[in-house]
Amino acid sequence: MTDPGTVPAARRAPDAAVASESPVPLLSVRDLVAGYGDLRVVWDASFDVRHGQVTALLGRNGAGKTTTLRAIAGLNKLHSGSVTLNGQDLAGVPPHRRIRAGLGMVQENKRVFKRRTVEANLLLGGYSRRVRRRKLKDSLEEIYELFPALRGRAGTPAGQLSGGQQQMLAIGQALMGKPKLLMLDEPSAGLAPAIVGEVMNSVMTLKASGLGILLVEQAVEAAVGVADQITVLDVGRVVMSGPVGSIPDLEIIKDAYFGRGRGRPE
Ligand SMILES: Nc1ncnc2c1ncn2[C@@H]1O[C@H](COP(=O)(O)OP(=O)(O)OP(=O)(O)O)[C@@H](O)[C@H]1O
Ligand SMILES: [Mg+2]
Repeated sequence: MTDPGTVPAARRAPDAAVASESPVPLLSVRDLVAGYGDLRVVWDASFDVRHGQVTALLGRNGAGKTTTLRAIAGLNKLHSGSVTLNGQDLAGVPPHRRIRAGLGMVQENKRVFKRRTVEANLLLGGYSRRVRRRKLKDSLEEIYELFPALRGRAGTPAGQLSGGQQQMLAIGQALMGKPKLLMLDEPSAGLAPAIVGEVMNSVMTLKASGLGILLVEQAVEAAVGVADQITVLDVGRVVMSGPVGSIPDLEIIKDAYFGRGRGRPE
């Protein structure tokens, strides 16, 4: 696994350090109220993701994490509030245009095409860019640099990969679209602890390259290890939010999971 000190050259953003100090967040979510049809399940959620940083969106089952990601991606209803990417208000922008604007998302439970090969899955992830296949092939090299375990498996059907490799493939597929912001929905779910570590190492590598990452997790320890900012949702509301360094211990975050947060919304 590549460590953050050896970011693949092709993914390294020369201005990553500068960008993370940029006054304009890469993603800005304000007072988001979202749900399904008329049903509202997330209320007044506000948080940012900055360039080259990870914001962890934490919370227990049913807290509203996936609903929030789907609303950002334009896949379910935004009742009110705003989502801004790189200064562009995404109101009314359809999902495929959000992808072209720089949003990448890996959905819960590793959405890879199990009968297709590793390489075919990666190439599918790049089609939104509308560039020649040859250019996409160049991008494959960057993914294999990030996830060496996939390189030797290019011709293998994705269904034959281990759970961890499938998660890496799903992340690789999203990266093929060249996102500026990557949203990962519970990438550690169902993985052995050692593999979770590998996935989180790749998250570190990606943030060092200048990518902004919105990391949805239930696994507090894994997420806090890579996060710059955390936001905790419980029953659809933000119960805690702030820089990870301002939170003295993990128990406070875990308490917040159950609405006992000593840290309240800003
Ligand atoms: N398609 C849907 N239609 C109606 N309600 C839904 C739908 N999907 C989820 N919900 C409800 O919305 C609430 C939030 O669900 P959501 O999936 O966003 O939670 P989550 O934080 O992602 O949970 P988990 O950790 O289990 O993935 C839950 O009460 C859930 O039952
Ligand atoms: Mg979920």
